[in-house]
Amino acid sequence: MEDSKIIEILRILENISHIKDIDTLLEQVLLEARKIVNAEAGSVFLIKKNYLSFEYVQNDFLHGDYENSSDYMYTKKKIPVDNKSIAGYAALTKKSLIIDDVYNISINKPYSFNSRFDKLSNYITKSVLTVPLINNREKVIGVFQIINAKDKNGKVISFTEDDSFLADLFAKQAVIAIEKAIMTREIILRMISIAELRDPQETGAHVNRVGAYSVEIYKHWAKKNGITEKVINYNKDILRIAAMLHDVGKVAISDSILKKKGKLSETEYEEMKFHTIYGARLFSNSGSEWDDMAREISLNHHEKWDGNGYPGCINDLKCEELNLGNGKKGDDIPIYARIVALADVFDALMSQRWYKEPWPEKKVFDFIHEESGKHFDPSVVESFIQVKDRIISIWGKFN
Ligand code: C2E
Ligand code: SIN
Ligand code: SIN
Ligand code: FE
Ligand code: FE
Repeated sequence: MEDSKIIEILRILENISHIKDIDTLLEQVLLEARKIVNAEAGSVFLIKKNYLSFEYVQNDFLHGDYENSSDYMYTKKKIPVDNKSIAGYAALTKKSLIIDDVYNISINKPYSFNSRFDKLSNYITKSVLTVPLINNREKVIGVFQIINAKDKNGKVISFTEDDSFLADLFAKQAVIAIEKAIMTREIILRMISIAELRDPQETGAHVNRVGAYSVEIYKHWAKKNGITEKVINYNKDILRIAAMLHDVGKVAISDSILKKKGKLSETEYEEMKFHTIYGARLFSNSGSEWDDMAREISLNHHEKWDGNGYPGCINDLKCEELNLGNGKKGDDIPIYARIVALADVFDALMSQRWYKEPWPEKKVFDFIHEESGKHFDPSVVESFIQVKDRIISIWGKFN
């Protein structure tokens, strides 16, 4: 066992302990775990309602580009926590498991390998290291699987006891960060569900999607604009949370408007516009990084690139007698708000609302192209189109 590996693990743990967003964190945990033992692929499951819910898969062979940690797919898959699957077995026994070749598992074992994903993706899984994520109350909160260890020449080899030791050490500490991030996400979801009680259209699924689309658009846009990987990784984490909160200001809108089954009258719509300001007020005191971004997004997500949006320039958010200002324009609108504007409208158009039917996908994309340079920042539209496949897959996952 090399000491340098353990020092490296400590350094990685220090880095990931700053990540507040659960999705970003899991992605990073998986990436780092794979680096520690030099593995080609991996996936993470979290326990949700007695199932192992498949959160992420990363695969260098299929997706290429090792440094680009965004190689996950939005998938929808869960497996029961029982001893029939490898992951389930590890969760039940609370022990790591080394398998040299998943296609040659002894028939005496209760578990077997599910080759469906291999078949779908034309990938061959061989060696697998499965590590349960156990918290300090001895509760299993998930499992991660590291797939196909490689030697210096890229040949697939077996995982060793040393690998398993390092992965366990890493997992034990990573669980602390993971549980904290799960709690943060739960607090935010609770905040959102309070908003949802007021506005049943603003579902958990909608806010999850808007958060996820925004991150995908941002990553592409930021790369295109020369922002470094490190800064992108840091910001996207905060962006997801802040984007999820874009409409919490709707809690302050009266029921008669919020729950209206048909079209809003002119005056009702004017009142509705204040949800941007009410939302911004909720985040106006604290100075934490995501409060600042949440405030920017709440306030500006209905501004339009051509200046025809709302609420426009407001001098004092807390002032009692608020009036809407002249719409902000172009780059005066913060980039995160320009991104969420597109993500939000895309989702609203794809979805059923009390006042509208879902639009067909083609009509939605035509509309977005049409509004490029009017409602939307053209460079944001361009990035959105470039990551279209991911956007569609997010739509499918949280639905
Ligand atoms: P929302 O439902 O989340 O919609 C977000 C944005 O998506 C809208 O912002 C608008 O830009 C776009 N959008 C949604 N549906 C349509 C549509 O059918 N056609 C087009 N072209 N764009 C659409 P907007 O208009 O500023 O509305 C903000 C919020 O006000 C909406 O959020 C919704 O909560 C409420 N709202 C707007 N119009 C109506 C309405 O006629 N009836 C009711 N009950 N609520 C409305
Ligand atoms: C799967 O990919 O279906 C899960 C692998 C396993 O743990 O059996
Ligand atoms: C959903 O499709 O899950 C809800 C629709 C909405 O976001 O209003
Ligand atoms: Fe809004
Ligand atoms: Fe919305």
